[in-house]
Amino acid sequence: MAAAPDTDTETGTTLRFLTCGSVDDGKSTLLGRLLFDLGQVPDDQLAALERDSARHGTRGSATDYALLVDGLSAEREQGITIDVAYRYFASAKRHFIAADCPGHEQYTRNMVTGASTADAAVVLVDARKGVLEQTRRHSFVCALMGIRHVAVAVTKMDLADWDEAAFRAIEADYAELAGKLGIERWTAIPLSGVSGDNVVARGGTAGWYEGPTLLDWLEAVRIEDGLAALPLRFPVQLVQRPDVDFRGYAGTIAQGSVAPGDPVRLLPSGRTTSIARVIGADGERGHAEAGEAVTLTLADEVDCARGDVVASAKDAPEVADQHEAMLVWLAEEPMLPGRQYALKLATQNAVATLAEPKHKVAIATFEELAARTLEMNEIGPVVVTTDREIVAEPYAAAGGPVRKTMGGFILIDRDSGATVAAGMIRFALRRALNIHRQPLDVSRETHAALKGQRPAVLWFTGLSGAGKSTIANLVEKRLAAKGRHSFLLDGDNVRHGLNKDLGFTDADRVENIRRVGEVARLMADAGLIVLTAFISPFRAEREMVRAMLPEGEFVEIFVDTPLAEAEARDVKGLYAKARAGELPNFTGIDSPYEPPEAPDLRIDTGAMSPEEAAEAVIRLLESRSA
Ligand code: ADX
Repeated sequence: MAAAPDTDTETGTTLRFLTCGSVDDGKSTLLGRLLFDLGQVPDDQLAALERDSARHGTRGSATDYALLVDGLSAEREQGITIDVAYRYFASAKRHFIAADCPGHEQYTRNMVTGASTADAAVVLVDARKGVLEQTRRHSFVCALMGIRHVAVAVTKMDLADWDEAAFRAIEADYAELAGKLGIERWTAIPLSGVSGDNVVARGGTAGWYEGPTLLDWLEAVRIEDGLAALPLRFPVQLVQRPDVDFRGYAGTIAQGSVAPGDPVRLLPSGRTTSIARVIGADGERGHAEAGEAVTLTLADEVDCARGDVVASAKDAPEVADQHEAMLVWLAEEPMLPGRQYALKLATQNAVATLAEPKHKVAIATFEELAARTLEMNEIGPVVVTTDREIVAEPYAAAGGPVRKTMGGFILIDRDSGATVAAGMIRFALRRALNIHRQPLDVSRETHAALKGQRPAVLWFTGLSGAGKSTIANLVEKRLAAKGRHSFLLDGDNVRHGLNKDLGFTDADRVENIRRVGEVARLMADAGLIVLTAFISPFRAEREMVRAMLPEGEFVEIFVDTPLAEAEARDVKGLYAKARAGELPNFTGIDSPYEPPEAPDLRIDTGAMSPEEAAEAVIRLLESRSA
């Protein structure tokens, strides 16, 4: 029933495949059976298997093949597979790397990890249960990640009495699903891990089935990524300059091929030149193609750095600082629109900001649901804006090759270094060049000079009721007395106007601070000394504002009042309300505050009066303008 069966045997190649199924589908049994029938289980392990089968096995006194692959002890204890495990094995014809991905709903992220390097997938369907929500979920993620070959392993056929009608019904259901998802190459195989029928050896019981066994299928899948036929894309990984006479660019060819004399365009700069030499591990090459690691030298002395892409001059990729991408959110903390994340695509690094998702996809029904953020395991299209132009291409166009390198990226939490999302570029939205910055004749220097002062942003941060506004007010009064031009942006005030659409969720606080940061920057451009009094609970956003301003202009002042003290004062009575459960997401109670690690000034309100604190701020300001 497969639309395009793969019949050729790819002798000698390695197939990376992914297995998707839930605890109950018999996945471990199937994999264990595959290894066992291929004779890939060492003798000592076989002895242990017999022992373990008797002890932990779920099959009475019979051998429990699942125990061969359920290597993780936590899995044995809980009966679930908890992380991606890679297994290496071989048949007479081919080598295999199987990524074993758990089917549990919350483990979509493991599947994404496994799928990112797989060429094919084996999706398990229990013969007695048929195509389930999880089958749809697994297939959706496979399609999203660009897996183009799927075997639908209809397991436990022995328990379904090898009923052909049941198998055909599942096949028909999957045909519909595959059609919706654009999975073109798939084959359904009736089998049993317990009896071994149609895993490696053909099972006599399924006389009505003429298709491949699972092993036949695995041996026949053609890994045809089609990347070598695309135009050249060579992300520069390393600039090699052993001496003044040699400058080479090392990396792995992501797409296409390259030969001396080829005209190329360097991106993002757009400069054109041609290839002088192609050097491989064993010397000079006349030609190299996708997947190969080489060093290129160029005919002209041009600027080219790590992260640049050497591309075919005739057919260069788009360069843009805004893209629409499908994001799979991997972190436990939800996505925060407005927060800055580190983005890595090929060898490029950028700082990315995310808009709210356009929607999120209900993976089981493929419906588009309204969403303001993505939680762990959720998937949706998001506009990603980077602080610089990046060179990227659509991850997977229908039917075309999957551009994992040029179209796939990850997002990283800048504070913890953890990967928070996997992304697949859909299309470029904007070339930065289309939105120019209008040069202003009256410069920020002129504005500052007219006011006879050096602009600054005095950023007060601390808990609610810490004393930020009180101290900031005193500072501003003193500045006014000295004839300084200033302006105080206060949380409670700004939230009545500019930010009255925002509440106190993490996402809203991120947006609150982003906007206030932008306003503070404009005011500093106008030459003002800006004071801000916001809780600004997150380090990431305070650092973002610091980075927006010229070096030294952002002055972070930590108004350090312990929670107990702020709560005891409770000037606005808000802590009492929060404790009573009437004010959700209250900072310090059920919403976090991340204190500055190295503030420019720390004010210990227990040791200093507000007047003393204001004096300390003024002294700091004077010392820096001197
Ligand atoms: S921030 O976290 O986004 O920086 P911001 O400083 O603008 O907060 O606003 C904090 C002020 O809003 C507090 O001083 C308090 O008066 C009020 N407020 C109302 N609800 C909350 C809440 N859930 N958490 C913190 N402050 C709140």
